Amino acid sequence: MNQDFLPLNGTDYVELYVGNAKQSALYYQYAFGFELIAYAGPETGVRDRASYVLKQDKIRLVLTSPLGPNHPIAEHIQRHGDGVKVLALWVDDAEKSWLETTSRGAESASAPEVIKDQFGEVKVASIVTYGETIHTFVERKNYSGVFLPGYRPRKSTYQPTGIGLKYIDHCVGNVELGQMNKWVDFYEKVMGFKLLLTFDDKDISTEYSALMSKVVSNGNGYIKFPINEPAAGKKKSQIEEYLEFYGGPGVQHMAIATDDICHTVSELRSRGVEFLEVPSSYYDDLLDRVGQIDEDLQPLKELNILVDRDDEGYLLQIFTKPVQDRPTLFFEIIQRKGAKSFGKGNFKALFEAIEREQELRGNL
Ligand code: FE2
Repeated sequence: MNQDFLPLNGTDYVELYVGNAKQSALYYQYAFGFELIAYAGPETGVRDRASYVLKQDKIRLVLTSPLGPNHPIAEHIQRHGDGVKVLALWVDDAEKSWLETTSRGAESASAPEVIKDQFGEVKVASIVTYGETIHTFVERKNYSGVFLPGYRPRKSTYQPTGIGLKYIDHCVGNVELGQMNKWVDFYEKVMGFKLLLTFDDKDISTEYSALMSKVVSNGNGYIKFPINEPAAGKKKSQIEEYLEFYGGPGVQHMAIATDDICHTVSELRSRGVEFLEVPSSYYDDLLDRVGQIDEDLQPLKELNILVDRDDEGYLLQIFTKPVQDRPTLFFEIIQRKGAKSFGKGNFKALFEAIEREQELRGNL
């Protein structure tokens, strides 16, 4: 087997550009149980923006707002609303990662750069992916600071207990009609990923709308990127709704892993996070469909958690409603019990749930 030319240690961080980072930071602390760990802004010598770094187990979220209107971040927010800008990848060699990918055709977003402070140095370099989203390679083996040089530790007086969110399981991109294969090719050829799964419009269709999806994964399987595109249907696909409101391709959802989905979801619900609802009839024949599971059915039904099985085991999952007013980014909470798949058996019920929401928004 060929050597992996782009070894990845995992997701380093996910950065969202948002209209009001200070308030978004409190939302993710309060509702999702993240802890504020670091900050960069005017008080730390950064004059044009403010960034809050939140952490829970292995997940780091960065929320960034510009401080004025004539700023690329302000333009990004005007076009896209709140959304994911950076899917950062943790590597041992950022310059090599950038060279390997740009030499295979990736467009550079920023050339390799060393940033330093008294805690050491970090090397970063970025490439462009779908829409205005970028991948930043982060090499932090010579760094002991709280996040990146330029950030200072920051704590909140609000100290939430974590709710069991462990790591990012996968991040899904929505791209335009006809563009899925181009981006699958990009991840295969430019980043050395492998095609893991394909779903066509027969797998993912309801009475009204359809989509197609392919999942790519890196060599060690730590990074998984499903890519969706709309497919023809009687009415507007949820992917088309996303593309319209996001103003182009972008990250549709981040799936976060938990070891105890009932605990995690009841905490999220009690803190006001809204989820898609499937009809209670979903549970009538659930055990016939998925066989024996460790969990009691009743709490799953009360929390509206979905279950699916593949050859290797089963998984439990649930999807939030969009976390901003534009019907764009949402979260998935997933607990894997052996299954390595993505809940194909739930697609129909889920997409019907999404369509009920689209209908309420007048976008179906
Ligand atoms: Fe997902």
